[in-house]
Amino acid sequence: MSDRQPDARRDAFATRAVHAGLTPDPTYGSVIPAVHLTSTYAQPQPGEFVGEYDYARTANPTRSALETALGDLEDGLAVTFASGLAAEHALITATCKSGDHIVLPADLYGGTYRLIDKVMSGWGLSYDLVDQTDLDALARAIRPDTRLVWVESPTNPKLDVIDIPAVLAARRDALVVVDNTFATPANQRPLELGADFVVHSTTKYLGGHSDVVGGAVIAADREWHERLRFVQNAAGAVPGPLDCFLVHRGLRTLHLRMQAHARSAAAVVERLRAEAQVSDVRWPGFSGMVSFRHPGATEIASRTRLFTLAESLGGVESLIEVPQAMTHQSVEGSAAAVPRDLVRLSCGVEDPADLVEDLRQALG
Ligand SMILES: Cc1ncc(COP(=O)(O)O)c(C=O)c1O
Repeated sequence: MSDRQPDARRDAFATRAVHAGLTPDPTYGSVIPAVHLTSTYAQPQPGEFVGEYDYARTANPTRSALETALGDLEDGLAVTFASGLAAEHALITATCKSGDHIVLPADLYGGTYRLIDKVMSGWGLSYDLVDQTDLDALARAIRPDTRLVWVESPTNPKLDVIDIPAVLAARRDALVVVDNTFATPANQRPLELGADFVVHSTTKYLGGHSDVVGGAVIAADREWHERLRFVQNAAGAVPGPLDCFLVHRGLRTLHLRMQAHARSAAAVVERLRAEAQVSDVRWPGFSGMVSFRHPGATEIASRTRLFTLAESLGGVESLIEVPQAMTHQSVEGSAAAVPRDLVRLSCGVEDPADLVEDLRQALG
């Protein structure tokens, strides 16, 4: 790493967010390095190439820059993927074998549940869903053959905040992975607490502009990082260089955006708590994710003007959705099913007063 790179021990998070992974282009001095749109690299002699750059599934400089930045911000070693679910799949493939057991949170992203319940279980993995806010239940669920404890904090969509140090204390021999998509490293750094892995859907707050799909695993340990790099290359779910560029650009304003998202959410929550028919308003106190219950959930979600009715979250623009009918269809009928009257908001960085007014008119 050149001495012009941010220093994790010296520089604050905001400084690292702006600079991480970026060194000026050595040929022209461009402050932002070129996007390496290439599938392969010229070799002067067979087997002679720069670093690990022999073929672009194996390595790409634009991807490497993003991985350096993500590793810096999460305090580990990053490997990036074509989506959050591709990252999750690679992590499970790298760490688990047939016969292993996984502890999943009872509230979780529907796609994670579908991956394990509908795909990985066919390869001999078993799982239990447990409410991880109940530490006794969690301790009972972790068995001698539990290979992974999967944590989401805050959870999607009910926004439970999980006590990560308490999970680590209960882990027995299991590896602990934290899906940090909702919190982001601006608010929570699980590897610093002792977790083994962080996963991200970089599609969300890290990219931050709803224009890219991507994922990442960040490992605390160099050997696990190497294993993940091996799976990344062997299975091949790599992100394209333009997508890497977009996520990396998003990271540079992450700290500012997360503050603005939280400001919007705080204003929205204050208004929702004053509404008679609204119940169970949830907001972790950081980030822009808010959920609440209302008997007219579907109608409200169809009536907003600024909150776009759409899946996903974490972009600068506000989104609204009804998880039961949209992002969480795959948990229907399971212990992770979500109520029909639950509304999930991703509060963007618009003027909070406009967002409050939009919800006021939608709530009627
Ligand atoms: C918490 C969480 N993890 C993982 C994912 C999967 O990410 P992707 O959609 O990028 O595959 C999502 C998607 O919504 C999510 O909300």
